[in-house]
Amino acid sequence: MTVARLTLDPSFVVGPVDRRLFGSFVEHMGRCVYTGIFEPGHPRADTDGLRTDVLDLIRELGVTTVRYPGGNFVSAYRWEDGVGPVGDRPRRLDLAWRSIESNAFGLNEFMRWAALAGVEPMMAVNLGTRGAAEAAELVEYCNLADGTAAADLRRKHGVARPHDIRLWCLGNEMDGPWQIGSRTAEEYGRLAAQAGHAMKRVDPSIELVACGSSDADMPTFAAWEATVLEQAYDQVDYLSLHTYYDPERGDEASFRASAVHLDGYVDDVLATADHVRARLRRSKRIRLALDEWNVWYKSRLVEPEDRGIEDTPALIEDDFTVTDAMVVGNLLISMLRHADRLTVGCQAQLVNIIAPIRTTPGGPAWRQTIFHPFAQTARLARGTVLRPALTAPLMTTGRYGDVPAVDAVATLDGRTLTVFAVNRGTAPIPLHLDLRAFGGHRPGEHLVLANDDPHLSNTAEHPERVTLGSSRSTTEVLLAPVSWHALSFTLEERQ
Ligand code: AHR
Repeated sequence: MTVARLTLDPSFVVGPVDRRLFGSFVEHMGRCVYTGIFEPGHPRADTDGLRTDVLDLIRELGVTTVRYPGGNFVSAYRWEDGVGPVGDRPRRLDLAWRSIESNAFGLNEFMRWAALAGVEPMMAVNLGTRGAAEAAELVEYCNLADGTAAADLRRKHGVARPHDIRLWCLGNEMDGPWQIGSRTAEEYGRLAAQAGHAMKRVDPSIELVACGSSDADMPTFAAWEATVLEQAYDQVDYLSLHTYYDPERGDEASFRASAVHLDGYVDDVLATADHVRARLRRSKRIRLALDEWNVWYKSRLVEPEDRGIEDTPALIEDDFTVTDAMVVGNLLISMLRHADRLTVGCQAQLVNIIAPIRTTPGGPAWRQTIFHPFAQTARLARGTVLRPALTAPLMTTGRYGDVPAVDAVATLDGRTLTVFAVNRGTAPIPLHLDLRAFGGHRPGEHLVLANDDPHLSNTAEHPERVTLGSSRSTTEVLLAPVSWHALSFTLEERQ
């Protein structure tokens, strides 16, 4: 077969699109915060030092939720260091990245930035070097109005109204030996249950995310999830997944088909969570938070042990290609396909660190290739997700065997139908869309990310070398090799 066929029906519903799927991540790492979102003295910084050129791009990206302040950073972080008068804040050695943390930017600066960016905060607590008491005190500082020591301290710091943060992460990657304060599944499960219990005593309306495995290749994967949930099932609402795809690991076809891996990973975590639910005889179903995901040239990472201690080092500032952007678009398709249970996503990270937005200190900000599929999926994927029936030519990969070269999903929002599709193969493939189940339709926009050179990137010197193409949508499309597409149609009212 050389042609792909995609059939859609309004009855094939996966679930609603949760806007939290289009989240991102700001960690105190490298130049994500300092000279990324925050750079006092920059010509485009506001009076608080927030870069307005970056804020403009973040709003254009359509990010909905932002996880903060880490990542590995959070596991030795004292949130108290980052609040109160800036002149009194300590300069600390950050143990995760062996960087100097000035603490010039902290919780209240982040919340001001989040309001300007129009994003919901997703706050992580330190369960590496700290425990339930400090986590509960942070919820008290953020969410209680007044009348307790921590709430009154926030008011003293000039923030009269509570931040009212809904979504909280119980630590970060606690199974990873690189993590400061890493634990066994039993230890972490118990700690997560205790911290979650205390945090919900402060504010019962918060939602909690327990750490799943750091990735599906960890030796304890699945056993970790089961053990943690056995201990903390009643306290937590979400289980986290992290996954990064390295273009330089293995064969290129496998990299292009990375979404096959994500599909299997999500299915495996759901099966594990539901197994624990059955054993515990609970009715609540755990939802998933894919709160770190992206393409990452991880084999180029210089480990913290192999670097000197630096102030604001340029860490993992990968330049992304057209192929990387197609993979990011495909990962978003996979996330939408699981929208009934996977309802939080955080692309890691937002600025400079393996990010859709790059900056130079004192200079411009620009969109990387991966910016485009994210921004358009966040803009267009609304309403409910529809599961297409899809047949497609196969491509051979080293890691996953033969897999369909075309992948797709669709969303229906009122009378707007949008199909998201990728060709992850190296030959052009005609795609036929069968929309008969909807009656009549009118064409809308067809957005394409493709290039004759799939390895092309945007740079500070050439910030718009890779952009989107746009034409009218049709039901007969030729998908160029290694390309990402969004096709919208307006459905006509049935007579
Ligand atoms: O996003 C970079 C790092 O990757 C995060 O700090 C950590 O959680 C993950 O291993």
